[in-house]
Amino acid sequence: MSSIVGFVQSLPKAELHLHIEGSLEPELMMALAKRNGVKLPFASVEEIRRAYEFQNLQEFLDIYYQGMSVLQREEDFYDLTMAYLRRVHADNCRHVEIFFDPQGHTERGISFATAIDGILRGLADGEKEFGITSHLIMSFLRHLSEDDAFQTLEQSKPWHDRILGVGLDSSEMGHPPSKFERVFAAARDMGLKSFAHGGEEGPPAYVQECLDLLQVDRLDHGNRSLEDEALTARLAEAQIALTVCPLSNLKLCVVDDLQNHPLKVMIDKGLKVTINSDDPSYFGGYLNDNYIATAEALDLSKEDLALCARNSITASFMDAGRQKLLLAEIDGLLA
Ligand code: ADE
Ligand code: ZN
Repeated sequence: MSSIVGFVQSLPKAELHLHIEGSLEPELMMALAKRNGVKLPFASVEEIRRAYEFQNLQEFLDIYYQGMSVLQREEDFYDLTMAYLRRVHADNCRHVEIFFDPQGHTERGISFATAIDGILRGLADGEKEFGITSHLIMSFLRHLSEDDAFQTLEQSKPWHDRILGVGLDSSEMGHPPSKFERVFAAARDMGLKSFAHGGEEGPPAYVQECLDLLQVDRLDHGNRSLEDEALTARLAEAQIALTVCPLSNLKLCVVDDLQNHPLKVMIDKGLKVTINSDDPSYFGGYLNDNYIATAEALDLSKEDLALCARNSITASFMDAGRQKLLLAEIDGLLA
């Protein structure tokens, strides 16, 4: 094992940008299709994997929403969540804050309760079995209307004690954060935190809106913020955490080569960077794969990697005592 691989493995980490539906591996997709009598346009696991070639975010989203069709019953969401936690437990991941897309399910007739109850039961059992603590974030699909988002927020009320906050994902271009300013204000009034994808494909002005209009507690991706010097300085000054997803950026052609990924530039500019997998089944790598591939492409030092792991802990909403323990563990690795 190279020293970087061993070091990444030894680092306690949190994953803060993960769409649970994007962790659906082709094997589980096939098994659930069979269990639920869902017809897939693929004959084999290999055929599914071969379809995972994307030129942009939309090409991925089309196949991602299609993949969700196999998730029908509460136990499907439970199995999906447990499979993800089992996998990242192997990566020495200690805490996760995961997204789910309720509208991706309610739109096709699966109830909000079916999806969230299965995921929450998986998170609870995952903590018992793997010691991974967690929070759940419900994301609004930005290609749908403000009214649809309001209805989803209303549906979620019985679970608010178990939901950390709201997120914003799906097709970024043409759907600026301003479209959801009022929904996010309502969610905030209900005590929920705010997260949003910004600057993945969209311009710096969208990131600005995430800060000013949605008042995000964390920004998902944020790559294109670097095109605006004042915005970059503001993110650094306020220490707004960025949940960066290098292998996702490569697969969705946000970067042409991992060697041109801006993660190291972000660190050098004082941004609070974390490393995450986004949709690991579709993008070919879980948490440690993202750390290792980025370290190799950008020649990151152990200090850089430890900084990203530290940031993942302090940018999370895990309790302060647990944060302290994990940070001490990271310090011990560097000593
Ligand atoms: N939904 C799942 N993955 C996403 C991504 N990378 N960007 C926007 N929406 C998503
Ligand atoms: Zn994402």
